[in-house]
Amino acid sequence: MVIERVLPEGVASADTFEEIEEALFDEELSSIEHAVERRVLEFTTVRGCARRALSDLGMARTPMPSKSGHGPQWPQGVVGSMTHCEGYRAAAAGYSSQWLSMGIDAEPDLPTPEGVLKEISLPRERRLLKALQAIDPSHAWDRLLFSAKESVYKAWWPVMRRWLGFEEVAVMVDRPTGAFTVHALSDNARTCPMLDGAHGRWLADQGHLVTALVLPSLDSGKRLSRDYLA
Ligand SMILES: CC(C)(COP(=O)(O)OP(=O)(O)OC[C@H]1O[C@@H](n2cnc3c(N)ncnc32)[C@H](O)[C@@H]1OP(=O)(O)O)[C@@H](O)C(=O)NCCC(=O)NCCS
Repeated sequence: MVIERVLPEGVASADTFEEIEEALFDEELSSIEHAVERRVLEFTTVRGCARRALSDLGMARTPMPSKSGHGPQWPQGVVGSMTHCEGYRAAAAGYSSQWLSMGIDAEPDLPTPEGVLKEISLPRERRLLKALQAIDPSHAWDRLLFSAKESVYKAWWPVMRRWLGFEEVAVMVDRPTGAFTVHALSDNARTCPMLDGAHGRWLADQGHLVTALVLPSLDSGKRLSRDYLA
């Protein structure tokens, strides 16, 4: 599994490079009532992944509809995240007693379309990307930054339920360790518990970039282990 490698111990996950046949609940079918086939496939397959992860947590199958802009519904007592991009789908889940929230994202290891980088990055991030590109031109570092910020947003949303702009956090990617650090820059961003200074992980594999940000729960007293961040 690819996704497992960017997640801390205690988070269950599943991923696939192929479509999975998965029976959907009526509530889930409503979420994709007017969707094109491509959307139906990614929606179905990623729910197959999510149910595998939930089963590893000992949870029964439950409907996980997705309301536009609000993300998927996870069963009581669970936090999780889903991602799908061309040729890859993944889901991750953990107990809310252990984890406050999590976000995962996958992208093709290809440069972002013209004009996107400027929209999603800060000058300090662009300086870092330039340095990374000079050291290792084999990966699309701009796309990695985008993916990491999508992971940040997916972890942010279930906790805060409001908008977080790309300019409100700086994400500094560390190449040797496969980690990234989140810096909350705005008052809005700083109100999210555990976000400022949080470490996520990334990797490049089989033409995909995968990122994850997992925030420990406030009362678990849990800290991400050195092994996870090394
Ligand atoms: C919501 C968003 C992050 C999803 O990004 P994406 O590249 O389309 O994500 P993926 O295709 O990898 O994953 C889609 C899945 O994300 C999940 N998702 C969607 N909205 C979500 C939200 N608000 N919160 C958490 N998860 C969400 C869903 O599970 C969705 O799949 P599903 O509809 O089949 O259930 C993106 O569309 C967005 O709105 N970004 C702008 C905000 C932002 O990124 N700010 C940067 C802050 S630093």
